[in-house]
Amino acid sequence: MDDRELLRLANEARRRAYAPYSKFPVGAALLCADGTVVTGVNVESSVNGLSLCAERVAVFKAVSEGKRDFVKIAVSCDSDHCRPCGACRQVLYEHAPNLEILMGCPKGDFVRTTIAELLPDAFTL
Ligand code: THU
Repeated sequence: MDDRELLRLANEARRRAYAPYSKFPVGAALLCADGTVVTGVNVESSVNGLSLCAERVAVFKAVSEGKRDFVKIAVSCDSDHCRPCGACRQVLYEHAPNLEILMGCPKGDFVRTTIAELLPDAFTL
């Protein structure tokens, strides 16, 4: 799957975000090793602490559908180079320690990185 296409899917998913509190919609598109793509959006809650980020929604959806091998995730938000939060980095590392990450920008370009770069010396049990 082409990087631009994965980012386009993240962007498209972003329109389905439920972010009435932060007004910061985020979309993610997770490329699985079998070639399928699972999207996620942030889903917020009026009760503090119950919101979920787009990246974790995508991973949890995929795992719950029986997918276990992940290649790449694209993330899209309204500000520059959407960076996965610390909690998402830990979850991404758990399920895909070799994951590539594309952090999209509103103008269409993106920054390419890896989970190993974003979460060096990660905790493992
Ligand atoms: N958020 C994500 O979904 N992914 C990120 O990478 C950063 C932050 C969400 C969480 C919350 O709903 C909103 O963006 C503002 O923090």
